[in-house]
Amino acid sequence: MFSDRTAWITRPSPLSVAIAERRALPGLIDLTASNPTAVDLPPLAPELIAALADPGVGRYDPDPAGPLPARAAVAAYYASLGYAVDPEHLRLSASTSEAYGWLFNLLCDRGDAVVVGHPSYPLLDDLARLEGVALTPVGSTWHGRWELDLDALDEAITPSTRAIALVHPNNPSGAYVTLELREALLARCRQHGIALLVDEVFLEYPHRDDPLRAPSFVGCDEVLTFTLSGLSKTLALPQMKLGWVRRRPRRRARSRPSDGWSTSPTASSLWAPRCCARRPSGCATARPCSARCESGSRATSRR
Ligand SMILES: Cc1ncc(COP(=O)(O)O)c(C=O)c1O
Repeated sequence: MFSDRTAWITRPSPLSVAIAERRALPGLIDLTASNPTAVDLPPLAPELIAALADPGVGRYDPDPAGPLPARAAVAAYYASLGYAVDPEHLRLSASTSEAYGWLFNLLCDRGDAVVVGHPSYPLLDDLARLEGVALTPVGSTWHGRWELDLDALDEAITPSTRAIALVHPNNPSGAYVTLELREALLARCRQHGIALLVDEVFLEYPHRDDPLRAPSFVGCDEVLTFTLSGLSKTLALPQMKLGWVRRRPRRRARSRPSDGWSTSPTASSLWAPRCCARRPSGCATARPCSARCESGSRATSRR
């Protein structure tokens, strides 16, 4: 009765069973906790809560790319990080995950493949499968840092490959794309005529400074590049989801999803301008998260 695409494995994995068992024990330092609203981070500022009562949310003023004030706010967010992004090159989505679905649809026909660094954002497998896209995983090796295996990448790219997808920095390894890897990726995309999808939801969560780290791909126009991010990670507010894609300026009519396709506007896209304007500068959202990680790792190394 149901499609193969939704034949999920619903039994809990051995890891989730082990985590549930440990969570029932006292004195646990849970480094797997991933809900930022449940780990004693600073509470939502009163101005942001007040912004939810903005009468503007009562107006419906659709724009297929997402409301311009929200796109301008996202561009201002990038400006605060030192990147020039034109709001015209941004498209808002209900979440980063939804944006992945759009891009898979935009680039791939059924059975086409996307090469992806592995391990990666766990939901990617399901998102690709829902769109009938096959993911080809490429592993990383440890050379003092996790590095994508370029020989394996070359083997993985076939005539049905439409894109390379990477998370920068990666979830779960935390590894950033290096400047050298960036050049290698661009060379492959040029050589095979394929697109690059870069998920940067954790861009502002570095463990340390690293001169070899590649900058955001929002400035990358050498090949067809789609850079994804969203409020759920940049503001550590998963309950106020809003995603976006930055694409390079259009050269061909179809380098963006059709205008009839998108969901727009969402309540959080109306809230985004105030929220981004109030956003603490630099990595201020990330800092309490990093501090928490460090205290967790200190506590575990003492045991
Ligand atoms: C690497 C990565 N990308 C995207 C997402 C999803 O973002 P959103 O909440 O905007 O769908 C997550 C969520 O954990 C993630 O880890």
